[in-house]
Amino acid sequence: MKRTKIKDVLASKPEGQEVVVKGWVRTFRNNQFISINDGSTIQNLQAVVEIDQLEESTLRRITTGSCISVQGTLIPSPAKGQTVEVKVSQLEILGDSDPEKYPLQPKKHSMEFLREIAHFRSRTSTFGAVMRIRHAMAFAVHKFFNDRGFYYIHTPIVTGSDAEGAGAMFRVTTLDPQNPPKNEAGEVDFKEDFFGRETNLTVSGQLEVETYALALSETYTFGPTFRAENSNTTRHLAEFWMIEPEMAFYDINDNMQLAQDFLQYLMKYALDNCREDLEFLDKRAADEEMTKPQAQRNELSLIDRIKFVVENDFQRLTYTEAIDILRNSNPNKKKKFQYLVDQWGVDLQSEHERFLVEKHFKKPVILYNYPKDIKAFYMRQNEDDKTVAAMDVLFPGIGEIIGGSQREERLDRLVSRINEMGLPEKDLWWYIDLRRFGSAPHSGFGLGFERLILFVTGMTNIRDVIPFPRFPGNAEF
Ligand code: 4AD
Ligand code: MG
Repeated sequence: MKRTKIKDVLASKPEGQEVVVKGWVRTFRNNQFISINDGSTIQNLQAVVEIDQLEESTLRRITTGSCISVQGTLIPSPAKGQTVEVKVSQLEILGDSDPEKYPLQPKKHSMEFLREIAHFRSRTSTFGAVMRIRHAMAFAVHKFFNDRGFYYIHTPIVTGSDAEGAGAMFRVTTLDPQNPPKNEAGEVDFKEDFFGRETNLTVSGQLEVETYALALSETYTFGPTFRAENSNTTRHLAEFWMIEPEMAFYDINDNMQLAQDFLQYLMKYALDNCREDLEFLDKRAADEEMTKPQAQRNELSLIDRIKFVVENDFQRLTYTEAIDILRNSNPNKKKKFQYLVDQWGVDLQSEHERFLVEKHFKKPVILYNYPKDIKAFYMRQNEDDKTVAAMDVLFPGIGEIIGGSQREERLDRLVSRINEMGLPEKDLWWYIDLRRFGSAPHSGFGLGFERLILFVTGMTNIRDVIPFPRFPGNAEF
């Protein structure tokens, strides 16, 4: 007989029909009640065996973590909190799990402990919910863009371009570290390396996707990106996924509007399609809140925070306006900020971003027109000669979730900025060529996929929203 997924079993009318269900045992009570999960839903299915129906030796093998297959009839359940259950006629153990040795117990484990057993945390309710939502969000990203006629471009992961300046890079090489070839000057000779040059893992697909935006008009890339910064925070990973739309004929305002529409679409998609998992995580987040002092608690529940983003326009203001607000703010005057805001031109720290979003405006904020000296070379220079058409979207509890800009499309301006910043003009030859032949106004941004998942799931550490997190000192699994 064909296996039915638990999600479908739970949705069907119990009329004594025969079903086969396969999954992992969560708990086994009274030698009678088996709670099974197969990952198709957050809900477990109860399978009931009669007393004396199974051999003692089989009963002993039905343990938390074991994998089983049951066949039986689907009947209404007398138990509270479930409408159906399976009355077992046949039971087969597919995979044993020694309860003395299995690291997951049917109790609450700390997130830190679960990170050490990332090969089993997939079997917890929390990680099941988070990864189903992660899947739904990835699908929704593609649906959003496909429905609007954007093309998905696969930008390279290994790259020789190192001029983005977004962060430190991981080198890719096949040279023998013990005995690398040297040139006459005694330096490592990368001409002998696999690609005949120095290469790295990409920090962003932006520069490459721009070449397709200036051909196919509306494009995006969605892939893994790598940053070798020593950032041990709850919002940084060394390997994370980024969605980068890039559009010809969009100015900074069109770009900001797209960013808002995109985020609201994703949030609404989660509300409409991930209800059960969100309800589970909403309760989980509420329990977590109760462990915090009153003053630090969220005013809104997880689901209400998501709804709030869907229903409200994001607050747009310039960097200059933000600096004025911050300079005159209470935490600044009372020297509560770790980094005091004293002059125009300083980079904003996450404490400042969070003050604007969580305390001042109490909604998502889009900051734009940043000082050119704290932003990347490719951002379009404004007429004031001081600022560039950059934009960051800031979210409650997260800080920066999106960074982007209108791009500098004027050849002379781009080249002079590259030289001013001391970047290698010759390595950027192909990028500069785009401004030499058929240049066009264009814009784009990058959404950190894990930061999005953090917001939607209410998880507190970015290491818990990606299956196998990579961070300084950790690349297990
Ligand atoms: O602001 P960033 O560095 O921008 C870029 O890389 C541009 N090339 C994007 C573009 O315009 N196409 O990164 C974009 C986003 C950030 O807003 C943040 O959400 C996320 O990527 N991000 C990280 N997420 C997790 N771990 C890290 N170390 C991250 N660094 C950036
Ligand atoms: Mg940024």
